[in-house]
Amino acid sequence: MARAKAGGKASKVVILLGSPRRNGNSAALAERIAAGARAAGARVQSFYLHGMKIAPCRACESCRKPGAKGCVIRDDMQKAYPHLRAADAVVYASPIYQFNVSAQLKLAMDRCHALGGEAGNALAGKRIGLAFSYGGEDPFDSGCTNAIRAFQDLFAYIGAPIVGMVYASAGAAGEVRSNRKAMREAGELGRKLAGA
Ligand SMILES: Cc1cc2nc3c(=O)[nH]c(=O)nc-3n(C[C@H](O)[C@H](O)[C@H](O)COP(=O)(O)O)c2cc1C
Repeated sequence: MARAKAGGKASKVVILLGSPRRNGNSAALAERIAAGARAAGARVQSFYLHGMKIAPCRACESCRKPGAKGCVIRDDMQKAYPHLRAADAVVYASPIYQFNVSAQLKLAMDRCHALGGEAGNALAGKRIGLAFSYGGEDPFDSGCTNAIRAFQDLFAYIGAPIVGMVYASAGAAGEVRSNRKAMREAGELGRKLAGA
């Protein structure tokens, strides 16, 4: 049974998948987050960014002009914007690449410049979740803490609470599924993102 939020509608969770590996580790964490969120009654929409045509931000600032109606670049980000605006929670899932998030995720994040402006940022107040996987031994020697720090600063600036994060060391695609602690944490994060 769907859990109702104030107003009677189920919470909406949007997941941005940053890995090119559909069955990779960050996708496995995200899948478990989605399962936790659905179990708590949320609707979940995931975007596999690697399969989408997403151009880099051009810094034209058209999105910030008075009366602007969002980003002027007509590509697949236009499919994600309405979902991001309508979301109650947003999950950023990525492998750690070169001590930061993947380029696929960073492109989409830069394009979210168009969600900010005079009227405030459309992401403000949403529940934020993070899911990272890395090949290094721990979050410190891998660049994971660097990525986490960037999100902490970004969402402190935007004004959206990071309600939880899950991260784990893993190499081969899907290996993280055998990390019971990380998978359990991912399920719990999903429930939290749903508002449970
Ligand atoms: C281009 C590239 C860059 C990487 N850079 C790092 C890195 O900086 N730190 C790290 O710990 N692992 C790094 N790795 C390993 C991945 O983060 C690791 O395999 C991760 O689990 C992949 O997640 P995925 O299965 O979701 O793609 C890199 C892998 C690739 C392909």
